[in-house]
Amino acid sequence: MSETSLSALSSESRRFEPPADLAATANVTAEVYERAAVDRLGFWAEQAHRLRWDRPWDEVLDWQPPFAKWFVGGQLNASVNCLDRHVAAGLGDRVAYHWVGEPEGDRRDITYAELLAEVSKAAHALTELGVEAGDRVCIYLPMIPEAAIAMLACARIGAAHSVVFGGFSAQALVDRITDADAKLVITADGGYRRGAPSALKPAVDEAVAQCPSVRNVLVVRRTGQEVTWGERDLWWHDVVDRQPDTHQAQAFDSEQPLFLLYTSGTTGRPKGILHTTGGFLTQVAWTHWAVFDLKPESDVYWCTADVGWVTGHSYAVYGPLANGATSVLYEGTPDAGGKDRWWSIVEEFAVTLLYTAPTAIRTFMKWGDELPNSHDLSSLRVLGSVGEPINPEAWIWYRDVIGGGRCPIVDTWWQTETGAMMISPLPGVTSSKPGSAMGPLPGISVDVVDNDGTSVGELGGGYLTLDEPWPAMLRGIWNDDERFRETYWSKFAGRYFAGDGAKWDDDHVLWLLGRVDDVMNVSGHRISTTEVESALVSHPMVAEAAVVGATDATTGQAIVAFVTVKGSVADDVSAGEAFAKELRDHVAKEIGPIAKPRQILITPELPKTRSGKIMRRLLRDVAEHRELGDVTTLADPTVVNAINAKMGSSSSED
Ligand code: WT7
Repeated sequence: MSETSLSALSSESRRFEPPADLAATANVTAEVYERAAVDRLGFWAEQAHRLRWDRPWDEVLDWQPPFAKWFVGGQLNASVNCLDRHVAAGLGDRVAYHWVGEPEGDRRDITYAELLAEVSKAAHALTELGVEAGDRVCIYLPMIPEAAIAMLACARIGAAHSVVFGGFSAQALVDRITDADAKLVITADGGYRRGAPSALKPAVDEAVAQCPSVRNVLVVRRTGQEVTWGERDLWWHDVVDRQPDTHQAQAFDSEQPLFLLYTSGTTGRPKGILHTTGGFLTQVAWTHWAVFDLKPESDVYWCTADVGWVTGHSYAVYGPLANGATSVLYEGTPDAGGKDRWWSIVEEFAVTLLYTAPTAIRTFMKWGDELPNSHDLSSLRVLGSVGEPINPEAWIWYRDVIGGGRCPIVDTWWQTETGAMMISPLPGVTSSKPGSAMGPLPGISVDVVDNDGTSVGELGGGYLTLDEPWPAMLRGIWNDDERFRETYWSKFAGRYFAGDGAKWDDDHVLWLLGRVDDVMNVSGHRISTTEVESALVSHPMVAEAAVVGATDATTGQAIVAFVTVKGSVADDVSAGEAFAKELRDHVAKEIGPIAKPRQILITPELPKTRSGKIMRRLLRDVAEHRELGDVTTLADPTVVNAINAKMGSSSSED
């Protein structure tokens, strides 16, 4: 929260009103805000009625801070809500997914009836493999239809899935499988990335060797690349294809665990964020319908997030399917088969609603207007952004170049923990300011507070808190209630602290200002500084490591690591560079390529206070080439100069 970012915000005076035609037919109108404010629980109960319940709830909310139960006593099946009820309503022939594989021409349209049949078969297969309600299943797949099918099959039989992003390493898999005590891993031989098959199974092989809880590994054949086969391995097509394609689903309690999703916190160990069924599905379905103004019969929606992240869970799988929407699902990278790949997909399927991340938008800005301009993007009508603050420049570019100046932009703030969107404009109601997420959605209550927990009202900046429970809220950290209380509920008594800074401007609209803790946001993904530091220190030659997030024009933040070594690294530049590369690869092996530092500085010492605390603020200044802050508490002030001198000659990844 630097001074410059605060003053830059105050000068943003541009405002865009909702387009008249969109406002005239919008799913949600202004009165909803008022209604929800007067009767918050009544509002959410009304939204829960959009789902099919096998048993009605007795009570909307049971709130024993910090533990919430929503729609207490109610029973439903998430998979039935996403599939069976649409087929029963005569929508079986509607396309659920236009799936686009990365290789040119690789396409598969899957209707709701087909998806139901596939999920039914997979549900039978899971049961045959001994998976029961309450178990955990780890999913480590590329963006292929089987990813959604596997998730829905777990939900169908009451097992919780734990999807691990395919970019994570074997070690990261071991940690997540072990913490969740998963019985089954679902993976693929590989997936396509940047025009070539990229193996997944070797990481699983390496991981499950250390995971006795895993009984079987179910392997989808996607690329046909060679795999080594172990005793626990089974081909998906051998087990799933021979199952019956109808399945009688059972209803589960509203609070039945639906999934775990691991995310980084301020300490090294990832947290298994627990989400349950009824409240989660209610809020993702409603927000997806309201924030995108979804017209399921005519819209084509595309959420570009991988299912390995919460955005993929809430807005590529559960939200759109609960709403009976038609979605695009794309396997590959934005530049596979040409840097205009996304825009050719938008054109081919006449995508109307697009949901993506600022880091992607900034990348496309860099690639130039000609690429999107060479495609017909006139089908688009609402554009969404998520994952990090979107800078006004990127916002305007998104609106003008991608949206042709017609489409409202919904900048949606939320987190893995919140499960669903919390702060966002509504495209037919709220006027928008470039770079602002505007305000809380109906039924959501936020409060910006100062260090003492005192509300700043609706003017001024501080810490973002949520002061009322919401349906899709996390129900805890898997196996760690203490950490749940400590992490989210202890800084400000009785409130959820999100870890973000925020500011109300003169118009009383909200600006998100990024993380205030030791969590970096790289390309919209949370990575903890501690986690990368632990990975670095686990290298035999590293003595100490300090990691900071430095502002980066494309990825939002980039990882910069300061490292001291045991003994010495040869002083010539090439040896230093080889060593920095070795460390980067080491981090990729420990966590995954997404956590590779952009820059590694080998320094003789780290700047520390007299009590031995590493002075991150100083390192951040060094990493961002800012003028140095106060160094008087530094044990050895010359250290910083030494580091600064190194910065110029450091090895950095392009
Ligand atoms: C953190 C949560 C929500 C799905 C993707 C990320 C940042 C997210 C915004 C936004 C400003 C945002 C916050 C938040 N963030 N969306 N629209 N404006 N910041 O989920 O990995 O759990 O990360 O992402 O810092 O705390 P996540």
